[in-house]
Amino acid sequence: MNTQPLQTLPLAFMQRASKSYGDPANPVHALREITTEIHDGEFIALCGPSGSGKSTLLNLLAGIDEPVSGQVFLMGNDLAKLNDRQMARLRADAIGFVFQFFNLLPVLSVFDNVYYPLMLNGFRRHEARESVMHIIEKVGLIDHYKRQPGELSGGQQQRVAIARALVKNPRLVVADEPTGNLDTRTGEEIIDLLLAMNQELKTTFIISTHSPILRDRAKRVLLIEDGRIKDDFINA
Ligand SMILES: Nc1ncnc2c1ncn2[C@@H]1O[C@H](COP(=O)(O)OP(=O)(O)OP(=O)(O)O)[C@@H](O)[C@H]1O
Ligand SMILES: [Mg+2]
Repeated sequence: MNTQPLQTLPLAFMQRASKSYGDPANPVHALREITTEIHDGEFIALCGPSGSGKSTLLNLLAGIDEPVSGQVFLMGNDLAKLNDRQMARLRADAIGFVFQFFNLLPVLSVFDNVYYPLMLNGFRRHEARESVMHIIEKVGLIDHYKRQPGELSGGQQQRVAIARALVKNPRLVVADEPTGNLDTRTGEEIIDLLLAMNQELKTTFIISTHSPILRDRAKRVLLIEDGRIKDDFINA
């Protein structure tokens, strides 16, 4: 019998997870036997050179891609055992995504971009209004909720994307180079916002980055090189 209390289970757990691409006879090894745990409330910077496997790791974690060997557990689920529908459900309920190039819908207003994931989850506009406006306010865009993404700065667009990731109150937010397309100062404002959201909402963040600032300010740093975990430490 498993007597381990539920709350001590990690939010995510990878066990010797490997991923390679291309011709099996001559594969590119993107990740080599990654074993790591992520716990609720963590704020992790995933660092490492270009091509080291950061995006691949995030994709495995979020069930967007599957390992060729090893296992990924997310919120008590062995991802290999979920069918596509169950995986899509888990993603829709529990994971928010933030990308380097924002990926906003250009013809929709800020409000509707943030509402979008709730719409997909079956909420009507009027039902969602309070949560949408609340998170838009939290990311500092209340004056701009009627604008379209094209009428906003890069940093403001990334705030919209962060609001969209957080609106359904996910347990985990996966961000792939969220400051990669922003100047240093704007990037730092986004880092402040992500840290504040981690503090306030207790959302867990794992964020791939080339930013030394984010690396210094994250609670935990996971450093990968050539598909392997090179270092894993808590910032003082
Ligand atoms: N779809 C793909 N097909 C073939 N090879 C891929 C594919 N995606 C990634 N790779 C390879 O896997 C390795 C890891 O790539 P990944 O995108 O995870 O790196 P990264 O750390 O995110 O890099 P960057 O910092 O440039 O975003 C690289 O060698 C890359 O070329
Ligand atoms: Mg990447």
